[in-house]
Amino acid sequence: MPSSAPVRRPKLQASNGCKTEVPISYDINIPYVDVDQQSKIKTNYPQYLPSWDPIWFDPLPPFEYEDPALRVQDRTKPNLLRPGVTVNHIQPSLGSVVEGVQLSQLSDTAKDELALLIAERKVLAFPAQDLIDAGPEAQEQFMRHFGKPNYQPVSGSMKGHPAFHIIHRDGNREEIARFLEQRTTTTLWHQDVSYEIQPPGYVMLGLLDGPQVGGDTVFAATDMAYKRLSPTLRGFLDTLSAMHSSAKMISHTRLTGGLVRKDPVNTEHPLVRVHPVTGERCLFLNGEFITRIQGMKEPESKWMLDFLMQHMMTGHDFQARVRWQPRTIVLFDNRSTLHSAIVDYLDEEHGAQSRHIFRLGALAEKPVPVYEEFD
Ligand code: SIN
Repeated sequence: MPSSAPVRRPKLQASNGCKTEVPISYDINIPYVDVDQQSKIKTNYPQYLPSWDPIWFDPLPPFEYEDPALRVQDRTKPNLLRPGVTVNHIQPSLGSVVEGVQLSQLSDTAKDELALLIAERKVLAFPAQDLIDAGPEAQEQFMRHFGKPNYQPVSGSMKGHPAFHIIHRDGNREEIARFLEQRTTTTLWHQDVSYEIQPPGYVMLGLLDGPQVGGDTVFAATDMAYKRLSPTLRGFLDTLSAMHSSAKMISHTRLTGGLVRKDPVNTEHPLVRVHPVTGERCLFLNGEFITRIQGMKEPESKWMLDFLMQHMMTGHDFQARVRWQPRTIVLFDNRSTLHSAIVDYLDEEHGAQSRHIFRLGALAEKPVPVYEEFD
C-alpha cells in the first residue's frame, strides 16, 4: 500500500505570502492525523495506532531468497489442510476463505504449505484468528517465515516495530470531502512496495477493527490479465521493463510536513515477471509507483501503461473482493496480484467509520524477467 502520512500538517505559505492549498491526501485509505489527536481516537488496539518514530533506513542490500513454497514435498498440503479445515473459494480462480485453521498454531512445514496455497489461490482470508491478539512480536515472527521484513519509508508504524504499516481511518470528514472534490474514486490499484529491488512476495493484512459493511479489499490476478492479451502483445511486453519509484510518495510526504525515513528508491523491473512457484507470467505494473516504460517516448509509455492498467482494473472476471469479518487475517501474493482498498464506509456526519488494519510485508526475490538477458 502506498504510504505517506504527515505527522503535522503545516500551514503552507506561498513565496508571495498568500496561503496555498494543502495538497489532498496521497491515499485516502491511510491516516493523515496529527499525533496530538491520536489520544482522542477510539480503538480497541491503541498500541497499533500509527506513530512516526524518527528512524533512518539505508538502502536494502541484496539478499538470497528461497521461497518457502518450493520446499513443499506433498502438494495436497496434509499439514495445513487437516481434517475439519474448509477452503471456500471467493471466485473460481482466485481468493479463498479458510476456516478451521489457527495461523498461530502452524508448524514450519504447514507454513511452507501455506505459502504454496497462497501462490495457487493468490488471496486467502482467515477469519477469527487469535494471532490478531498475539501481539506484534508474534505477528512479525510469523511473517519472517515468508521473507525479510520490509520497513516503511514514510507511513505510520508501531513504536519499536517499524515493519508495521498502519492503515487507520476514523472521522476525518473534511479531509475526505477535500479528497473527493478532486478525485472520482478512492481506489488506488497497486502492488505493495514495488519500487524495492526485492519487493514483498507475501503480504499479511490483519483486521483490528472495521465497519460492519464496506471497506472491502479488491484483488486482480495479474497472470490471468497477462493471458487475456494477444500472443502478439504478450511477446512484445515480455521484452519490456518499467521504472518503479518511491520518489513521488516521499516528496508528497515532505510537502505535507510528514516524516521521511528513507531516500527514494528507483528500480527498473521487468514489465512481465515470472512467478517462482507457479511459473506463470504476471504483468508487473501499478497505478502508483511506475514512472515510465524504458525505451519508449513519454506519450507511448503513458498510452501503454494506461491501456494495461485499464485492462487489469476492469477485468472483473479475474478479480476477487475480500469482505472482512472480525479478526480476519488476509495473506496474499504480491507478485501475481494488484489490489486496492475500497473507502466506501463513509457517513455524512462523521466522515469515515473506524477501519484499523496492520500490514506486514515479507520481501522476496528480485522479479524474474521472461528473458534472462533483461535481468
Ligand atoms: C494495502 O493497500 O496495502 C491495504 C489494503 C487495505 O487497506 O485493505
